[in-house]
Amino acid sequence: MNEHIQIERRGAIQSIRMNRPDKKNAITRAMYAQMAQALTAGDADPDIRCHVILGVPGAFSSGNDLADFMTVATGGEGGREVYDFLLALAKSQKPIVSGVDGIAVGIGTTINLHCDLTFATPRTEFRTPFVDLGLVPEAGSSLLAPAVIGRQQAFALLGLGEGFSAERAKEAGLIYTVVSEAELEAAVFEAAERIASKPPEALKIARDFLLGDRAPLIARIEEEGVQFRNRLKSEEARNAFMAFMSRKK
Ligand code: COA
Repeated sequence: MNEHIQIERRGAIQSIRMNRPDKKNAITRAMYAQMAQALTAGDADPDIRCHVILGVPGAFSSGNDLADFMTVATGGEGGREVYDFLLALAKSQKPIVSGVDGIAVGIGTTINLHCDLTFATPRTEFRTPFVDLGLVPEAGSSLLAPAVIGRQQAFALLGLGEGFSAERAKEAGLIYTVVSEAELEAAVFEAAERIASKPPEALKIARDFLLGDRAPLIARIEEEGVQFRNRLKSEEARNAFMAFMSRKK
């Protein structure tokens, strides 16, 4: 087990914590694989009634590891770990609660579109600079975001790459609520406990109605994935990745 993902069980709750603080929780292929596996295993375990997804103080996630993107941009293998993770999210059988503090870039934002409740702190900023990186929206966000926050706010988020403060995200309906940094994890686990205490069969039927038919979402994840992989090899994307890498030197 890679130490960058920590899986814990608290009664009927399974928490998945991204824990790579030195890279602001940039997500590697190994991390996606472990998160996909945990979600699938939790869904299959009758003793688990709720998933929790967390980051570290100040960083939920800085998005996909840009070094991994660069590997694909320069002709290397991409792997299917991201896709497996996105499918596990989109097909989840149990409610998902996320707690977001600080950085939430790219997939660090779009994960939350798959969550039933997202708590964020005042210093959180949601941002999806896909187009600025020469890329396109992923994780089904091009379908979910317009449905959740309306087309114009979705365009600002996904097309223009505008940052959404926690307050703006709440006002837009992107997240459930805003709590202080000190209260975040307690609030997340309290919500997860409330979920876990509900009659699970009734809750599952209610949640399935709220989510609706997931086939179009899964199809969109695939369609976005095709475009995304093509875009990774584009000159626009390569230039953007190189600009980020050379910023380091
Ligand atoms: N992939 C790989 N490494 C990343 C990363 C990413 N997505 N985001 C941050 N890192 C690394 C940095 O390279 C740096 O590593 P180093 O200390 O070895 O040089 C470390 O994490 C800390 O990042 P830094 O940029 O110094 O922190 P910051 O607080 O000033 O800025 C961000 C944080 C997230 C705003 C900034 O790092 C950023 O813009 N990252 C890229 C985000 C992105 O475009 N993600 C892809 C979306 S599709």
